[in-house]
Amino acid sequence: MPQSKMFDLTGSVAMVSGGASGIGYAIAKGLIKHGAKVLIGSRTVEKVEAAARDLARQTERDETDEAAPVVVGTSLDVTDDKSVEKAVDLAVDTFGRLDVLVNSAGVMCKKPSFDLTAEEFNHIYNTHVTGSLRCSQAAGHLMREQHRGCIINLASISSFVDLVEVAAYAAAKNAVLGLTRSLANEWAKYGIRVNAIAPGFVPTEINRKMIEGTDRGRRILEHTPMSRFGKADEIAGAAVYLASPSASFVTGHTVVVDGGYLASGIGEGVAPWAPPKD
Ligand code: NAI
Repeated sequence: MPQSKMFDLTGSVAMVSGGASGIGYAIAKGLIKHGAKVLIGSRTVEKVEAAARDLARQTERDETDEAAPVVVGTSLDVTDDKSVEKAVDLAVDTFGRLDVLVNSAGVMCKKPSFDLTAEEFNHIYNTHVTGSLRCSQAAGHLMREQHRGCIINLASISSFVDLVEVAAYAAAKNAVLGLTRSLANEWAKYGIRVNAIAPGFVPTEINRKMIEGTDRGRRILEHTPMSRFGKADEIAGAAVYLASPSASFVTGHTVVVDGGYLASGIGEGVAPWAPPKD
């Protein structure tokens, strides 16, 4: 393969759930910039259509050609079978195939675990885990026929370490790793690679209020060797890599992009020790 083609996605079609904002949006942008055509899906149709228009503008791929778009936005609820099927059908009707699925839809619930209701827990699980399975199955049927496909799940630092009062999210993100490995193992024979990305802390709609200017945010930064939060665009490169020919022998793997958070035992920025108060 010529070096210049190592990250080339020309001819590939991707679907990104949760693609109207944050990391999903940045990943969609990265995929488009590397040549892919992309369908982004999210629950609010106005928001996702506006995001698709922005993406076309930002990536400077020809947004004026309505007959041959490079990006479309559609309503998608990953907790609803019919909605998922409709979005996958639209990707194929619009672009003719589906090669890459990015499961980036996500919700958060932070509260003490004693107060967490089963309903809240199930909603988080249904979005992150069952939602990823649902989308993977719908896209996977097509990928199996093509004998070519790549699925990228969004895991988290909380797939590996506890982040306090986000038990439902942590349980779901641990399950995302299990799902990733299981599908990778089962679907390799169909030419489908399944991997995950575990981002560190990136201020987006899901967590901005929790980490920007808060004590929690300060403690996170003290524990992050690079002493800063990540940017959504810094996560996109991992997705481009996993979707590209460069990753043709990579499956069942999780790429951690976290400014060193998981590598840090004691952060250099930790406040000086003081004896505990009575
Ligand atoms: P975000 O809130 O900007 O994006 C999540 C998107 O998913 C939103 O557009 C939301 O409307 C959409 N969504 C929620 N429920 C949905 C449903 N049922 N169907 C379709 N779309 C739905 O947050 P962000 O940060 O971009 O999150 C993307 C993924 O990355 C999530 O899975 C999140 O858990 C994960 N992640 C984020 C980190 C961060 O620091 N921002 C760190 C680690 C993982």
